[in-house]
Amino acid sequence: MSDAPRFDLLLTHARIVSLDDPEGGYGEIADGAIGCRDGRIAWLGRHDALPAGTHAERVLDAHGRLLTPGLIDCHTHLVFGGVRADEFEMRLEGASYQDIARAGGGIASSVAATRAADEDSLFASALPRARSLLHDGVTTIEIKSGYGLDLDSERRMLRVARRLGEHLGISVRTSFLGLHALPTEFADDRDGYVSEVCERMLPALAAEGLVDAVDAFCENIAFSPAQIRRLFEQARALQLPVKLHAEQLSNQHGAALVAEFDGLSADHLEYLDEAGVASMARAGTVAVLLPGAFYALRETRRPPIVALRDKGVPMAVATDLNPGTSPLLSLRLAANMACTLFGLTPAEALRGVTAHAARALGLDDRGRLRAGMRADMVLWNAHTPAELCYWVGGNLVEQVLVAGATRNGY
Ligand code: NIG
Ligand code: FE
Repeated sequence: MSDAPRFDLLLTHARIVSLDDPEGGYGEIADGAIGCRDGRIAWLGRHDALPAGTHAERVLDAHGRLLTPGLIDCHTHLVFGGVRADEFEMRLEGASYQDIARAGGGIASSVAATRAADEDSLFASALPRARSLLHDGVTTIEIKSGYGLDLDSERRMLRVARRLGEHLGISVRTSFLGLHALPTEFADDRDGYVSEVCERMLPALAAEGLVDAVDAFCENIAFSPAQIRRLFEQARALQLPVKLHAEQLSNQHGAALVAEFDGLSADHLEYLDEAGVASMARAGTVAVLLPGAFYALRETRRPPIVALRDKGVPMAVATDLNPGTSPLLSLRLAANMACTLFGLTPAEALRGVTAHAARALGLDDRGRLRAGMRADMVLWNAHTPAELCYWVGGNLVEQVLVAGATRNGY
């Protein structure tokens, strides 16, 4: 009986970009091979080091193309009713995001359209948006609720998110974002709505298995740190991890709050200060950078990239795909923007959409190519890793594998 390895799939002659490098480099293997078994990476190394007698059910010759982990979009709001192109026009004429929100537009208009949509129409409108992300090599997507703001509508959004994952054959992680905006029926009772979210909606949706993490919007046009603390205490009681939209439009010290609860991530962070960076570094909370919202709102203040880098805070990059502040349908374009607008290196941006994005979702089985990890991988029509951040738009994907199998859903 030979002990030569047997694989379900063997990828040969790939330029492997494992992103599994403690120094923060690409983790490259120039002429590499990867053997997969039962949906996981079973062997990875130089092609010429493949054990003699290796047997594979299927062999895929990469012909020197680049192979990376599947991309992970760790912050999206891609399930919603309606569109808000009218607000884009208003902003171009000088209205600010806050002006539009205070006048009853913004998130509230998406809430009205989402409440009016049934599950099938929400699913049908979200599907092409999810497919756009897939065309860029995305194999794991986080999807938030937050445009329902009542129990039934939030449930409908989260069910649609789960259905998208099943339909497309990819991983979807859900975040409950009940504290996204104040629904009109609670207009005079913000604390009453916080109680409704903490005491009724979150426990019910968690019990239905619809919540992987708990998120909130900490801002002067949304919820205060004290209100969000109540939510995070409830999340802790339910043993759910937390994350937060923090320091997007002003410094509310939200990053320190989410770090205090050992949060997975603090997201946006344009107004983050040194103390916030230090809290995140201590807690190991990931900084999720969202250059699409920065771009669409024509924000001029950048997140403190140098301080985050110096303090060793892991930086992820995501689309923030949503109808208001970031109608961005490409994670690779988000990575390009993270380099051009925020000053990340291409290696940082690539880790941002793979290894660090996995960490922002609390997933330790993906985001890097290494034995034991899920075999979520992308073969690119590109020859150097920097190219993935360099091309603006276009389709560079040659082949996507999810758990070692060619992905369906196109
Ligand atoms: O991540 N910042 C708050 N939430 C979203 C925007 C939602 C909207 O305007 O519809 C964001 O940017
Ligand atoms: Fe967001």
